[in-house]
Amino acid sequence: MGALLAVRVALVFFFVSFVTLFPSPVYSQELLIANAERRIDLTSHIIRVYLTLKVENTGTSPASEFLLAFPPTQVNHLALVKAVEAVGKRKKKTYVPLSVNPVELDDAPNGTRFFSVSLINPLKQGETVTVEALLVLTHSLEPFPAEISQSESQYVYYHDSAIILSPYQIKEQTTYIKTPSTRIESHTRVEPTKLSGKEIKYGPYADRLPYSFSPIIVHFENNHHFAVIEKLVREVEVSHWGNLQITEHYELVHAGARHKGIFSRLEYQSRASISGVSSFKDLLVRLPPRVHSVYYRDEIGNISSSHLRTDSQKSELEIEPRYPLFGGWKATFVIGYGLPLQDFLFESSDGRRYLNFSFGCPVAGTVVNKLILKVVLPEGSKDPSAMVPFPVDQYIERKYSYLDVVGRTVVVLEKENVVPEHTSYFQVYYKFNPISMLAEPLMLALAFFLFFMACVAYLHIDFSIRKG
Ligand SMILES: *[C@@H]1O[C@H](CO)[C@@H](O)[C@H](O)[C@H]1NC(C)=O
Ligand SMILES: *[C@@H]1O[C@H](CO)[C@@H](O)[C@H](O)[C@H]1NC(C)=O
Repeated sequence: MGALLAVRVALVFFFVSFVTLFPSPVYSQELLIANAERRIDLTSHIIRVYLTLKVENTGTSPASEFLLAFPPTQVNHLALVKAVEAVGKRKKKTYVPLSVNPVELDDAPNGTRFFSVSLINPLKQGETVTVEALLVLTHSLEPFPAEISQSESQYVYYHDSAIILSPYQIKEQTTYIKTPSTRIESHTRVEPTKLSGKEIKYGPYADRLPYSFSPIIVHFENNHHFAVIEKLVREVEVSHWGNLQITEHYELVHAGARHKGIFSRLEYQSRASISGVSSFKDLLVRLPPRVHSVYYRDEIGNISSSHLRTDSQKSELEIEPRYPLFGGWKATFVIGYGLPLQDFLFESSDGRRYLNFSFGCPVAGTVVNKLILKVVLPEGSKDPSAMVPFPVDQYIERKYSYLDVVGRTVVVLEKENVVPEHTSYFQVYYKFNPISMLAEPLMLALAFFLFFMACVAYLHIDFSIRKG
């Protein structure tokens, strides 16, 4: 024991001295970007930016981190930042995911915000590396006009910079903006700028200094479904009797240009191709295979207009709210379904059980402003812990349903600004003693027994009175 303690103390000491020797990563000012390509996809209401950066170290000391920069207004709408490093040449090229973390720098001009990307190997003097990044932005298209009637198309503004914001000099760069249709009302020109069909090309621009910025506005048609779920509560209840029960409460809104004037259902139905082009009347819900007991209801009751298609790979549920949704309109509804437990509950090598389930919103192509995922564990579960591949808020709640003695542990995971890219697997580990499973049947048996005894006693007393 003493020896072990000594080793531990030595280890702690080692780490402490390590940390004090290298207080925080030093961001090299001697990086430059030899070539940058940016592709901005504006075809839906979720904006995806694909960046390809060729980073070069012109300094003498190796650099292990490099920075992605964002204007402060954009960072609030940033749902996701991912980066990969391209390793190998041409056909043997593979992509290695890199860790990306927000960092605070004191002397950033104009409140610029940063994410630090950790490279696989430190970049030595004169070396280059190619990094590809994906940025996902939400709530960044502003409808203009802000109100439209049933027969009008929806137009939106997109604000950005023609020059990529960066703390490094960029030797050469080009930006491509893709719009959903050729109807582009206007766009800022920063020469050279070229519009062809559904694409605007900004650049190439040579030798731009660090923190160069050149604001642009693009005004274009976008009739994509602006389906935003203001709040989604998903409850996943684990029952060791073989079932996983899921209940999902949706608060949906059409976040596009507000509808003005009256709504004519006749016009909507007879001229479907031009009337209400930006509205939507059905949604696609992607569910796991082998789903059963599916229901879909709102505050009035069950909605029958839904279709379920299943195959061995997936299930797709098509739902139709009671009325089509126009800009600013809302709908609240509940979807519930059951799944076979053995598809999602496993035992880990250390004997704990774990649920392996999908995070994110099952309704395709939506932004969720606030997602609350509750995993209700069986009674008697202990030491729960959740593993989610991105940061979420976590806490524990208790839930009581009938027959529960001590209540069920509920692991709650909360996340804001959830996009389809967040649909990945998470795990909830817990300890469970199978004896606990007998608690409920035993209680039932005991209750029946007591009831039976009470009856016997009652009959007995009753009998004796009559006799007397
Ligand atoms: C709604 O549908 C579910 C499942 O099909 C059913 O169990 C329930 O009784 C229905 N409720 C009403 C009010 O029709
Ligand atoms: C969770 O399930 C997915 C899909 O079946 C699988 O790819 C993944 O490896 C599983 N994760 C764990 C930790 O079991």
